[in-house]
Amino acid sequence: MTALLSVSDVAIRFAGPARPAVDGVSLDLRAGEMFGLVGESGSGKSTLANAVLGLLPASATVTGSIRLEGRELLGLPEEELRAIRGDAAAMIFQDASASLDPTWPVGDQIAETIRAHRPVSRREAERRALELMAEVGIPDPARRFRDAPHRFSGGMRQRIVIAAALANDPRLLIADEPTTALDVTIQAQVLQLIDRLRREHGTTVLLITHDLGVVAQACDRVGVMRGGRLLEVVATADLFAKPSHPYTRALLAANPATAPRGSRLPVIPPEWSVEALDG
Ligand SMILES: Nc1ncnc2c1ncn2[C@@H]1O[C@H](COP(=O)(O)OP(=O)(O)O)[C@@H](O)[C@H]1O
Ligand SMILES: [Mg+2]
Repeated sequence: MTALLSVSDVAIRFAGPARPAVDGVSLDLRAGEMFGLVGESGSGKSTLANAVLGLLPASATVTGSIRLEGRELLGLPEEELRAIRGDAAAMIFQDASASLDPTWPVGDQIAETIRAHRPVSRREAERRALELMAEVGIPDPARRFRDAPHRFSGGMRQRIVIAAALANDPRLLIADEPTTALDVTIQAQVLQLIDRLRREHGTTVLLITHDLGVVAQACDRVGVMRGGRLLEVVATADLFAKPSHPYTRALLAANPATAPRGSRLPVIPPEWSVEALDG
C-alpha cells in the first residue's frame, strides 16, 4: 500500500549553520490519519513541513525524497508546486491574519482559492465559498461574506483560513501550530473542527505542535522530533502507556498529569508544552 505522504531520509540545510535543520527524517502518513508532529521550538518541524510544499527559502538545500500519493515533490518546478498547493495539499499556519489579505472580503478570498485551481464561474465559486463558511462554523455566512478579516475574532479568522485550505478538498492538510495563537477554549474548538472535517472529507492531516496536550486530544499517531531528528513514532495511546524513547519518557515525566486509561482524550493541562522541558 502506498502511503499518502512518504518522507524518506530527508535532510535540510540552510546556508550558514553546519548542523542540518532536518537530519535524515523518514515518515509515512497513512491516508485519513491525523498525525501529530511534536517537538520543542527549533526542532525542525516547520522546516520539514515547508519542504513538503516547496515553501522553503532558496537558501535551503533539501535531499532525500518526499512523495505525495506516489509522486515525487522534491525538485518539481515552482509552477507544478503551485498547482499542488491549495489543491492536492494545503497548509495552514499559526497566524491566520498573515494568511489572509487584510483588504479583501473573506468570502472573495475563499472563492479566489477555488478559482485559482478550478474552471468555475465567479458565481459558482462564491456559492461554494458560502457553503464552506457555513461548514467551518461562521455564523450567518451570507452576511459575513463581504467582511474584511479584521472584522472577525482570531478563532473565526482561523476558521476562514481552514475554509480556504479545504476549498479544493485537499488529500493532505498540513497545520503548523494552527491553534497556538488562540485561547484555550477556542483552541479546542478549532481542533475539533479540523478533526471533523478530516473525518467527513477523508483528509490526511499533519498537525504540528509543541504542545503534547494538543496531540493527545486530536492525533492517531505522534512523531517526536528533536534537533532535526525524528526520535520515534508511536500511536497516541501508547505515547502515554509505553513511550520507548528516553526523550519522550522525559517529556511525559515532566508532566504530573496522567492520561485516563483507554481514553483518546487524556486530560492534560494546556500549559504543559515540550518547551517546559528546556533549561
Ligand atoms: N530560513 C531559515 N534560515 C536559516 N535557518 C533556519 C531558517 N528557518 C529555520 N531555520 C533553523 O532551522 C532549525 C529548525 O527550525 P524550525 O523548523 O522553525 O523549528 P520548529 O518549527 O520545530 O520550531 C532552527 O535551528 C532554525 O533556526
Ligand atoms: Mg515551527
